[in-house]
Amino acid sequence: MNKATRKAIIAGNWKMNNTRVEAKALLEAIKPLVANAEGNVEVIACVPFTNLETAMNVTAGSNVKIGAENVHFAKSGAYTGEISADMLVELGVEYVVIGHSERRQYFGETDETVNKRTVAALEAGLKPIVCVGELKWERECNITEEVIARQIKLDLWSLTAEQVKNTVIAYEPVWAIGTGLTATPDQAEEVCAFIRAQLAKLYDQATADAVTIQYGGSMNAANAAELLAKPNIDGGLIGGASLKAADFNTIVQAAVQG
Ligand code: PGA
Repeated sequence: MNKATRKAIIAGNWKMNNTRVEAKALLEAIKPLVANAEGNVEVIACVPFTNLETAMNVTAGSNVKIGAENVHFAKSGAYTGEISADMLVELGVEYVVIGHSERRQYFGETDETVNKRTVAALEAGLKPIVCVGELKWERECNITEEVIARQIKLDLWSLTAEQVKNTVIAYEPVWAIGTGLTATPDQAEEVCAFIRAQLAKLYDQATADAVTIQYGGSMNAANAAELLAKPNIDGGLIGGASLKAADFNTIVQAAVQG
């Protein structure tokens, strides 16, 4: 197991926050702070669709990459309110969050649609950040591993080894998202290691070792270093703390330290 062979990725997930004016100001503040991470840690801001073009312009020439927060699986067509992978690629977007628990919880996202969106994103050349995680009662019932194994199998269904290597997996225990409750570094490491073991079973060890696995769920400036020091936690997907430049940068710097 060699952490150094994988890309460390710190991604902000802005959710439904920031107008274009606010997005510009936040990215302008983040850019100089994280410039030293170039070549070491990939820094991404996943922003609302309406901010994508502004975000691409503001970050042009910097090491901050831009991601979207969702993508539809069809090429085009009668899907009112949806955005296709080609539309994102045209803007220069590189990453896209897929299957976030808020999409699963509030917008009817299922493992099947997560899988279809992931395939469509990869086929268009986007790098998906696929979110998995157990509910609180699933952990209490001691079925975390079953839940995660099922999500990994279904969400990544039909992907080739090459495609999986271009996919980021975010382990986000649903009970830890936006709640201030963080999984302990040991709990987070245990599940991230389990995800890697599942990938080794479905593909092979070399493929599993190449996949970036993030932790997400109330990761913040105070707890990031301890989480990121774990051997199978290669980065973070950050909600609340990504909305403050200084906090987000502290997390990026913790990843730079490794
Ligand atoms: P949080 O969100 O950091 O606010 O808990 C994480 C996420 O939803 O990706």
